[in-house]
Amino acid sequence: MEFSIKSGSPEKQRSACVVVGVFEPRKPTLSAELLDKAANGYISDIIRRGDMEGKAGSTLLLHNVPGTLCDRVLLVGLGKEKDFREKEFINAARLAIKTLNETGAFDATIFLTELAVKKRSIAWRVRQTAMIAQDVTYKFDQFKSKKDEVRRPLRKLTIGVERRNELGLAEEALNQGLAIAEGVTLAKNLGNLPPNVCHPTYLAEQARNMAAEFALDCEILERADMEALGMHSLLSVARGSHQPPKLIVLRHKGGKSNEKPLVLVGKGVTFDTGGISLKPGADMDEMKYDMCGAASVLGAMQAVARMALPINLTVIVPATENMPGGNASRPGDIVSSMSGQTIEILNTDAEGRLILCDALTYAERFEPDTVIDVATLTGACVVALGDVASGLFANKDGLARDLLDAGEEAHDRAWHMPLWDDYQDQLKSPFADMANIGGRLAGAVTAACFLSRFTKKFEWAHLDIAGTAWKSGSNKGATGRSVPLLTHYLLQRAGKLN
Ligand code: BES
Ligand code: MN
Ligand code: ZN
Repeated sequence: MEFSIKSGSPEKQRSACVVVGVFEPRKPTLSAELLDKAANGYISDIIRRGDMEGKAGSTLLLHNVPGTLCDRVLLVGLGKEKDFREKEFINAARLAIKTLNETGAFDATIFLTELAVKKRSIAWRVRQTAMIAQDVTYKFDQFKSKKDEVRRPLRKLTIGVERRNELGLAEEALNQGLAIAEGVTLAKNLGNLPPNVCHPTYLAEQARNMAAEFALDCEILERADMEALGMHSLLSVARGSHQPPKLIVLRHKGGKSNEKPLVLVGKGVTFDTGGISLKPGADMDEMKYDMCGAASVLGAMQAVARMALPINLTVIVPATENMPGGNASRPGDIVSSMSGQTIEILNTDAEGRLILCDALTYAERFEPDTVIDVATLTGACVVALGDVASGLFANKDGLARDLLDAGEEAHDRAWHMPLWDDYQDQLKSPFADMANIGGRLAGAVTAACFLSRFTKKFEWAHLDIAGTAWKSGSNKGATGRSVPLLTHYLLQRAGKLN
């Protein structure tokens, strides 16, 4: 879809469709009033008759409204003005774009940016509109022989702003929104790909392509490199698979050369069977999404590179399958991690932490300012927070605060979970420095505690996206979640968030 920004009155738009809002009960927004004036009360008449009460979730499509230059007017119900917040704005924009995509209009001009949203700027409204438009129209049908084509899909969306002096700000916000949306789309695509296609080698290939397109440094470590580095924890997970593991490193050098980089680490288990601690069969296909942490950090990298943010950003993706097999790790095996700490593998299905710990130790060599890892790490996190919030853990409260704020701003929320020492005891092993599982209680916390033992040398946060990275059921699919949170955090750090 093509996007642009325009200032000017809705009645003067030469467009296949103009979108304006109506509050409940029967209260037109400023843009709706302007249209109504030009149309000599045509719209207020319709509202008075009760065809559009302004209820949230309702729409009304009008054709040939007199006094206007557009073919159609789409009225969107916004609910009560006093209740109109972030969520209501997002729902209204989603509904508007979904409806537009189903009308015959090829292009549309949307006037929802004028609506005041508590604590949210014009830039926020523009960014969100762009992200929502790309999200609503996303399809993953590359493996369908017959695609269900939308008859006349929306091709061009113009976002109307009230004042000319808002144009510059809105343009910048549009570019940011589109860059983030592109990152989200990449993350969704990688997640949705079947696991026979999206294996570690494929992920490495995608990283190489991205590096070529955006002039990033790219390094792919092979099994032999990992052996030389002593990454026996990561390697222990890859043992059961015929697919070779890869450790992907991408570097964007947008900041000063002496500036310490931010490092993002993403769990890239391209399929998680559980290994010898085999998972039950039901819904196991969803474990193709176990590389969504990797997809998120690659998506964030692409957005940052597209925006050419003046920061130094490094992305590390440990990529492997977790398969059973004659050579696979056994429960009871003890491995030594790159850090030197030894691990007793009591459950081969707790593999995410085994690959992340070596990637986190590897991050040390970049002398990071901050390290954030993203992983579909625990079913326990899904039980705790459902599909609403990602679990957030950090060894520094300021970092946790900044990430929570970024999640709020992006509408990709996280919830702060504890990392208290009291939980560390659950990881005791009689034979090694630690066990890889911490028992039935607080599974998301003990997984984070495990990682914390490898992140003592830097400020670090961990996002458990097991509940948020994809949707199950009839609208199964990757969400791209944590890309908006991460990119908003990075925009904020770069001083580019208006
Ligand atoms: N990838 C899974 C976590 C997961 C499970 C994410 C279900 C989303 C839905 C992870 O590797 C795993 O299997 N974790 C185990 C850990 C346990 C063995 C301590 C889990 O959560 O059951
Ligand atoms: Mn697992
Ligand atoms: Zn896993």
